Amino acid sequence: MRILSGIQPSGKLHIGNYFGMMQPSIELQNKGDAFYFIANYHSLTSTHDPKVLQENVRNLAIDFLACGLDPEKATFWKQSDVPEVTELAWILSCVTPMGLLEKCVSYKDKVTQGIAASHGLFAYPVLQAADICLFDSNIVPVGKDQKQHLEITRDLAMKFNNRYGEDLLVVPEPQIRENTAVVPGLDGQKMSKSYDNTIEIFEETEKKLRKKIMRIETDSTPVEDPKDPDSSYLVQLYKLFATPDQVSEMEASYRAGGQGYGHYKQQLFEACRDYFAPMRERREEIIADKNYVDDVLNQGAVKAREKGREVIDRVRTAVGL
Ligand code: ADP
Ligand code: TRP
Repeated sequence: MRILSGIQPSGKLHIGNYFGMMQPSIELQNKGDAFYFIANYHSLTSTHDPKVLQENVRNLAIDFLACGLDPEKATFWKQSDVPEVTELAWILSCVTPMGLLEKCVSYKDKVTQGIAASHGLFAYPVLQAADICLFDSNIVPVGKDQKQHLEITRDLAMKFNNRYGEDLLVVPEPQIRENTAVVPGLDGQKMSKSYDNTIEIFEETEKKLRKKIMRIETDSTPVEDPKDPDSSYLVQLYKLFATPDQVSEMEASYRAGGQGYGHYKQQLFEACRDYFAPMRERREEIIADKNYVDDVLNQGAVKAREKGREVIDRVRTAVGL
């Protein structure tokens, strides 16, 4: 069973990205033939500085490996190292009805956010379908926001098979993580780069991490009064890092009153720092090992390309190229 997912290299990773996408992907590498890639072709829709794009790709690779992606178990590569995907995207675009793309909410959202309405942005879901179909993927783990893209992928694979022959492309099943809680940011909204409310998983220094956590917005309940743990996103964040006993302790202390929010922020800071400490250490080792990241991505590309060629050959023959 092939499991495949991709992530755009669009800046520093935050705690929402970690719990929403990286941690589940890392868990799945033990459950099948995992294929993960860095979607740098997709990033050309929004990142226009070549240096920044390269840095983002490298940092994402380092962070993913530091967090536990195991290249012995999962194939990990850069999308652009398997350029066959753009050929499949073109072929798929010839079975894509315009209306399907016109319905796409993520395109409209991105344009509203200020990303230029290019053809690349419009055709983004077709390239994503090619990413998935090029590797005969069965399962695609993604966040809720990708649901429509996966429906389009299934639709295109079926349209292709209808036109050119049954079973040419595998029709993938999305694995949508409905229950991954949305990780709240410093202001209680969804944590997102776009809202400037993130806590990065690898803040440069402990001091910066602490300062970020101290910025979490809280209400003005006086120190001695009881507080409501159920409506507190500080507690919600603490739950990501602490043991159930530690969480119960914090909740009881909230209800009892007598402590200010600064006290709980300090506890959250320590729990978050300790949680990422081994990964931070691993990250330093990876950075120190000059060739490691390139070696992993190159080996991954060889393996991915081998599979990709098999599928593109099948497709080229089917369509008459
Ligand atoms: P951002 O909103 O910061 O731009 P992206 O849209 O690049 O993040 O998200 C990359 C991945 O991380 C996606 O799979 C997305 O579902 C997940 N993700 C992002 N923010 C959160 C969050 N606050 N909680 C849970 N998952 C998230
Ligand atoms: N569109 C996805 C996102 O923004 C990234 C992505 C590109 C992807 N190609 C993919 C995810 C293929 C899963 C499968 O998060």
